[in-house]
Amino acid sequence: MPEPAAKSGSGLFLQFQTTKLRTATDVLAETGIAIDTKCSGGICGVCKCGLVSGKVEHQEFVLSKKQREDAVILCQSRAAEESGVVVDL
Ligand code: FES
Repeated sequence: MPEPAAKSGSGLFLQFQTTKLRTATDVLAETGIAIDTKCSGGICGVCKCGLVSGKVEHQEFVLSKKQREDAVILCQSRAAEESGVVVDL
C-alpha cells in the first residue's frame, strides 16, 4: 500500500513496495493513483517520475545510467529492496 512520505512543492512523495509480478504503476493503480502511460513497455518515457530514495530494479529502455540516479520509469520498474522506494509524482 503506497503511503504519503511527504509533500513537496512540485508533487506528492509516495513510498511503496512492488513484487516481481507487479510494477510501480500496478501497485499505484490498485490504490487509486492513476499514472499516465502510453506504451507500458518502458520505451516512451511518459510515466517517468522523480526518484527520492530507495534502490530501483530498472527494467526499461528510456533512461541513461545517470538519469537512473534520480528518475524512475514507473510502468516497468520495481523496488529492489524490501524497504521499497519513494518517488516524487
Ligand atoms: S508508459 Fe511508456 S515508458 Fe512507461
